[in-house]
Amino acid sequence: MKKKALITGINGQDGAYLSKLLLDKNYEVYGAIRRGASEKTDRLDTLGITSKINFVDSDLLEISNIHQIIEDIAPTEIYNLAAQSFVPTSFALPLLTSDINAMGCLRILDSIKRINKEIKFYQASTSEMFGKVAEIPQTENTRLHPRSPYGVSKVYSHYMTMNYRETYDIFACSGILFNHESPLRGKEFVTRKITSSLNKIKYGLLDHMEIGNMNAERDWGFAGDYVKAMWLMLNTDHADDYVIATGEKHSIREFIKLSLHFLNIETEWEGEGLDERVINKSDGNVIIKVSPKYFRPAEVDELIGSPEKAKNKLKWEPEVKFEELVKMMIEHDSKLIKPN
Ligand code: NAP
Ligand code: GDD
Repeated sequence: MKKKALITGINGQDGAYLSKLLLDKNYEVYGAIRRGASEKTDRLDTLGITSKINFVDSDLLEISNIHQIIEDIAPTEIYNLAAQSFVPTSFALPLLTSDINAMGCLRILDSIKRINKEIKFYQASTSEMFGKVAEIPQTENTRLHPRSPYGVSKVYSHYMTMNYRETYDIFACSGILFNHESPLRGKEFVTRKITSSLNKIKYGLLDHMEIGNMNAERDWGFAGDYVKAMWLMLNTDHADDYVIATGEKHSIREFIKLSLHFLNIETEWEGEGLDERVINKSDGNVIIKVSPKYFRPAEVDELIGSPEKAKNKLKWEPEVKFEELVKMMIEHDSKLIKPN
């Protein structure tokens, strides 16, 4: 019999890549999707898999709905990827963020407990939980110190996942994933904002880009590699928590410089702090400015993860390297502007 997977947040970046992976493994894939005036399936459309998904209307805010869809579908595995996932928005909407990210996870776990404790569960935890980092690199045992309502909400769901595993013997895993990007990344996140905006600047559709803290450093991997780790966690001998990362970090400034390189834009960098700016050598125009608007009330300056446990126990390794990732995103956004 085919395995059945229920994925919340199916049209998010990870939901789309995970769906593709599971369909290739011959799963029946059910996609929990928030219904608006129309269904949003753009990322699934890009991967050409929309017609293969069984969609169900769902919202993590609604317990009766979650209980009902789990009962109706009777999934083998549930991947909880839905979230209010943008950190700045969590400062503006801390209660909504907590309701979706923290209580949403608990709503699913408690439904599993009541309906069928054999259903395996994956929780999308995050390196944002490490926040003001206690050590470098961060491992599964590093002390958590979240710096945003988003991070705090994810700490709650992380511990609740552990708690339901330990208390009710549910096969529940928490993947502590470091930043992972792709051509399907939302344009509000810094990597895609850079690859999309710099392409627009190159082709004359945008005058300049405003950016925030370019000194922040992240451990960036490719989303396509990271969804493989989610599946491995639910398909190994026992349930556990794993850090998924590359073990390499780069600054926002490095990401920008590499993007400029792939676009063949030669630049000069001037000034410091809020006065830092980037000038296009070919015409003297300022193409990047720093704006306080994109600085955060509390910042996470440096994230770098140790994927050793995942390497040893899951035999998982990231395949796409930093340069390849930036190139892939730049080329994708170039094609969107110049289809021919
Ligand atoms: P994403 O692109 O922002 O996707 C999130 C999805 O959640 C969207 O499809 C969104 O639906 C859905 N959603 C939001 N609120 C919901 C609600 N109340 N009920 C049902 N669905 C809701 O995020 P992602 O990058 O794929 O990340 C997937 C998960 O991994 C998230 O939980 C994120 O917090 C976590 N994570 C991501 C990273 C990363 O670097 N990408 C790293 C660590 C952890 P709409 O389309 O309707 O808005
Ligand atoms: N978004 C954004 N926009 N970030 C900027 C900008 C800007 O203009 N300028 C600088 N940054 C810096 C932010 O201050 C942050 O330090 C870093 O770029 C990364 O920001 P995002 O790309 O928005 O990602 P994030 O690290 O806050 O959160 C993402 O990764 C988490 C895992 O660590 C999200 O996907 C979260 O959902 C995920 O949990």
